[in-house]
Amino acid sequence: MSVIENSKLTVVGAGAVGSSVAYAALIRGSARHVALYDIAAEKVEAEVLDLAHGAQFTGSSDIIGAADISVAAGSHVVVITAGAKQNPGQTRTELAGVNAGILRKMLPQLLEVAPNAVYVIVTNPCDVLTVIGQETTGLPPERIFASGTVLDTSRLRWKLAQRAGVSTSSVHAHIIGEHGDTEFPLWSHATIGTVPILDWEPLDGQPRFTKEELDGIAVDVRDAAYTVIRGKGATNYAIGLSSARIVEAILGDQHAVMPVSTVLSGFHGIDGVALSVPSVVSSAGAKPIHGTAFSDDELGLLRRSAGALRDVADSLR
Ligand code: 2OP
Repeated sequence: MSVIENSKLTVVGAGAVGSSVAYAALIRGSARHVALYDIAAEKVEAEVLDLAHGAQFTGSSDIIGAADISVAAGSHVVVITAGAKQNPGQTRTELAGVNAGILRKMLPQLLEVAPNAVYVIVTNPCDVLTVIGQETTGLPPERIFASGTVLDTSRLRWKLAQRAGVSTSSVHAHIIGEHGDTEFPLWSHATIGTVPILDWEPLDGQPRFTKEELDGIAVDVRDAAYTVIRGKGATNYAIGLSSARIVEAILGDQHAVMPVSTVLSGFHGIDGVALSVPSVVSSAGAKPIHGTAFSDDELGLLRRSAGALRDVADSLR
């Protein structure tokens, strides 16, 4: 799948999210070599053993891991999941202070051993941490970006697919903006196959979508992580899969269009703030698609998301 020979992915953080990213990457064969790094030696060694014990059933990828950062040496992609996680009822942005501190300390060390990697930030609040990470490293914005609303987009497509009676891959719709409370769907571009979403006739005789129903679906998607965290304390499987998919777009130089979050500059008047917009993801990293058209309402929502994220980032400077 990768066009890079001996491609190497390092996942930073061996918690529920990091281990799930590694697990998804191994099962999907996203990279030839997968490394897991965490400062908790016993934990990382145990996770690596558990993952390696399934080697008979995965492809040709291998897994190593350590509490020594040199385990990340020579990585082509580094996915960062380390940091404090949301408690039930807590918002992502409430984690900003503590996780910004962790990132500021860790990124220079990672850059020393993996100077040419593309960095993907999964730790929340991922948009704000992307701005902090980009400022800390001085990397070009395309080389340090967040998983952003790739996961929320998958949640949206799953819900629409269930209702429309088609496969998830036949739903073309994006959640953009903050990976969090101000995110929103780009309904003006949403289609099922080639049919605009409001015109779709569900195959099982159900009524068409209404605007009110779509609004309700958007709220469910926005609040999905709260629901999962309330029930099991964390989200991990879907973010693991989303991250592995992003890694494949980078290592495979796929030029895949995905709503990842980069520090924007001159994007419909938005500058210096990271939020998800449709972007082209390749071995060079992520480049926002400036030609993306928005309705007036959507542009208003995007600017609202930008304002909210700017306030959080400013509070950390
Ligand atoms: C999620 O959306 C909590 O950001 C994490 O699953």
